Amino acid sequence: MSNKHATLTIEDKSYKLPIIHGTEGDKAVDIRSLRKESGYITLDSGYMNTGSCQSDITFLDGEQGILNYRGYAIEQLAENCSFIEVAYLVLIGELPTRTQLNDFREQLSRFALIHEDMIHFFDHFPPNASPMSILSTMVNTLNNFYPEMTGDTDEELLVVAARLLSKIRTIAAFSYKKSVGHPLIYPRYDLSYCGNFLNMMFDKPVKPYVVHPEVVATLNKLLILHADHEQNCSTSTVRLVGSAGVNLYTSISAGVSALWGPLHGGANTAVIEMLEGIQRDNNDFQKYIDKAKDPNDRFRLSGFGHRVYKTFDPRATIIKQACSKTLEALQVEDPLLNIAMELEKIVRNDDYFVSRNLYPNVDFYSGIIYRAMGIPTNMFTVMFAMGRLPGWISHWNEMMQDSGDRRIGRPRQVYQGAKKRDFVPLHERE
Ligand code: CMC
Repeated sequence: MSNKHATLTIEDKSYKLPIIHGTEGDKAVDIRSLRKESGYITLDSGYMNTGSCQSDITFLDGEQGILNYRGYAIEQLAENCSFIEVAYLVLIGELPTRTQLNDFREQLSRFALIHEDMIHFFDHFPPNASPMSILSTMVNTLNNFYPEMTGDTDEELLVVAARLLSKIRTIAAFSYKKSVGHPLIYPRYDLSYCGNFLNMMFDKPVKPYVVHPEVVATLNKLLILHADHEQNCSTSTVRLVGSAGVNLYTSISAGVSALWGPLHGGANTAVIEMLEGIQRDNNDFQKYIDKAKDPNDRFRLSGFGHRVYKTFDPRATIIKQACSKTLEALQVEDPLLNIAMELEKIVRNDDYFVSRNLYPNVDFYSGIIYRAMGIPTNMFTVMFAMGRLPGWISHWNEMMQDSGDRRIGRPRQVYQGAKKRDFVPLHERE
């Protein structure tokens, strides 16, 4: 903490508030003592301007479109790493050595099965159950089958993270297999993290799946791009729920639920539904643009805009490049890609969107890649959840290990309801 301070004057009194500087230039006014000293709270619905913690994990500059995990630029990580390497980095703070990476991979393979009793749970969801609700339920249930984590040492953190990363991947693939009524395909020791997921999704007793290296590389990239994004809605949920002292699995389950929303991770599904709608309407882009601009219509162009980015989302730039490359490699022609590119062009030349800094976000092109890989639309947000897991675990752990600043998350409010009044007995109420 620096010894500089801000001065806030309320009516005729001034209050000195400490200023905090981050390592990459973030600046904050620490208002924790304000209410005690002045009686005032700060009001910031939607947390437009509120920092909830200090964190060492991810740096994001929304004005310049910068995203770094543990100091490393997302562009370099997406180009050079596997998802597991990045997961290790996000969790531990350093890139793994070859031995550390091999050990982590070994743990992931070791924990890949889920308890056979959990498999019966899948039988009791209706066939059209959302994979996100299945995921959230099953992750919460993990707590009944596996030990809680204290995260006191890096070794323990890695064991629990490997268990979660590995089992969530298995749960995700099983939920898909159940939804299509196919037999479950168990994880294999000889396959990589992403290769294993694809095999569990697409291998069939009647038609073995051949793992395509291009698909594995793209999946690694997509998961890396989702691995963390500082205090977004689901990560803040994980921290808030965890701050009550609840176990990691339940906190993550709450994060999965938050991610499901169409304004958050659910946007990747909503994008495809929107593009399909445009296609059904014979490419009537104007209809969708007009709806999005109409202040009386709640419709928004899914995949555009971001709370923090006021320029290109760096993840979207990487995904857009990967999108064309993957479709070409898989020899897939998807008319939705052309519709998406045309929509982006229209948006970027329309003053409504330009003046509000609405650029494509991470969800705009990701769904088109997932489709090319054969992943069904209702699984897109599950893919996002698999990717975001290292971030959720790391934030939960960071909060739990913060001995100096660990408090239950509990915002205040400004009450605007009825003033105190006398109780009216039932027989006197008309
Ligand atoms: N389409 C049309 N108008 C929009 C959009 C959009 N996608 N996004 C924002 N606006 C308008 C909004 O109506 C408002 O206009 P006005 O100033 O006239 O009232 C202005 O832009 C500012 O929007 P906001 O709602 O105050 O911005 P926010 O920071 O609260 O919301 C957002 C951010 C991502 C929820 C929003 O941009 C949105 O709903 N986007 C579509 C959903 C989406 O793609 N979500 C994925 C986000 S990235 C991945 C993730 O977080 O999971």
